[in-house]
Amino acid sequence: MAVIALASPKGGCGKSTTAIALAGAYAEQGYTVRIIDADPRQRVMRWGEAGQTGPQIAVVSAKAETIVATIRAAESEAQIVIIDVEGSANMVVPFAIAHANFVIIPANPSAADVEDAIATVRVVLDTPSKHGRSVPYGLLWTRVSTGFQSREFAALAGQLAEAGVPVIGQFVERTAYKSLFSYCTTLDQLPRDEVPGTDKARAEGAALANAVADAILADQEKAA
Ligand SMILES: Nc1ncnc2c1ncn2[C@@H]1O[C@H](COP(=O)(O)OP(=O)(O)O)[C@@H](O)[C@H]1O
Ligand SMILES: [Mg+2]
Repeated sequence: MAVIALASPKGGCGKSTTAIALAGAYAEQGYTVRIIDADPRQRVMRWGEAGQTGPQIAVVSAKAETIVATIRAAESEAQIVIIDVEGSANMVVPFAIAHANFVIIPANPSAADVEDAIATVRVVLDTPSKHGRSVPYGLLWTRVSTGFQSREFAALAGQLAEAGVPVIGQFVERTAYKSLFSYCTTLDQLPRDEVPGTDKARAEGAALANAVADAILADQEKAA
């Protein structure tokens, strides 16, 4: 059983996309998944209500007043709980971090996203967790352009390394990720003949799911 939180005050950095990609990857591995949509816009909730997500994934809604009770209920109902939050900083974020086994901080390769990601790392480090130690976290590069690594991306990666921020994975800019919201399904269920990049996106989702699972296991072993 694991609780994974998405965090970053930056709107559009890929939190909801990552929540859905991860949910699909864990469901494919046989786990039951609950996504908690704590964004008032409720985009993931609507994605779930469209009913194409398969029986292993359910989406529930929460706000600051209900987030802790919702996490506890979700933990007893499913093996993996994924918490998606809204862009702006609000009380949901520390509650989500405090109850998480791992925090994913998505960032596009841009100076603004990296700045917000580094600020989020500080919030994670300052938030006491329910386990009484700091919550492991990692940055996920999102919407990375294919082809050669630009000088700007290399500079941003250097800035992260200097700040000591670990990178947990990478999602390239792909139509498949955008299509998650139009088809209202998971990466493995997208029609691969219609949506370019489906298989590659699915592989990136699986790699992230495995990296996060490994990091959670390593943290639990360290604590034992
Ligand atoms: N890897 C990606 N490739 C292409 N489009 C992406 C990718 N990640 C996110 N997007 C698009 O970027 C927009 C913002 O992503 P979203 O997950 O909603 O961000 P957030 O939840 O952080 O606000 C959406 O339109 C989404 O489809
Ligand atoms: Mg979102």
